[in-house]
Amino acid sequence: MKFFVDSADIEQITALNDLGLADGVTTNPSIIAKSGRDFKQVVAEICAIVTGPVSAEVIALDADNMIAEGRELRKIADNICVKLPLTMDGLKACKVLSGMGIPTNVTLCFSANQALLAAKCGASFISPFIGRLDDINIDGLELIEDIRMIYDNYGYETEILAASIRNVNHIKDCALLGADVITSPPDVIRKMAYHPLTDAGLASFMKDWKKTGQTIL
Ligand code: G3P
Repeated sequence: MKFFVDSADIEQITALNDLGLADGVTTNPSIIAKSGRDFKQVVAEICAIVTGPVSAEVIALDADNMIAEGRELRKIADNICVKLPLTMDGLKACKVLSGMGIPTNVTLCFSANQALLAAKCGASFISPFIGRLDDINIDGLELIEDIRMIYDNYGYETEILAASIRNVNHIKDCALLGADVITSPPDVIRKMAYHPLTDAGLASFMKDWKKTGQTIL
């Protein structure tokens, strides 16, 4: 399973990349606004840190301008993946950009039918937002399961990029359901390493080791 970092925080991305835990990065207009940075500049910096795809989202709402913006964003670096909203215009732009060999990430997916359309339009990635579905009492993981089955039924190569990850259980469940990628806030990825029994076990090992009076180095 690939781990993408859902952030524009250079420090966090660098730290996770150093651990081999940043197979890519996803951004969106809200993430860019939160960073307070210049869009193209921060995305260029991210592209220089990670070797995998870095999603940069278009702002236009019509297909022609989405295509123009996508081509412009793609000039930033070879690992730019153009992020497009799941609207009819977004799908049209996806079809055209994918046809040009430009990687695409179709975002704001909330149904299996939307995911089916994105695959048919050649999307490299589909981004189902599981946390936002959970927020309105619809099971986000069920959507991942449905998309996995549909894509496998027909051999679609579009990768399922589970987004809107809110907790470590989302990541485990996405892995169990066969999502190709998760994109997660950095702190959730870090929390995966935590277990109270690990901390307690380590404290007791250290206490016992002290009794031996030995050193390794
Ligand atoms: O990349 C977009 C997605 O992950 C947004 O997550 O938490 O704003 O629903 P969230």
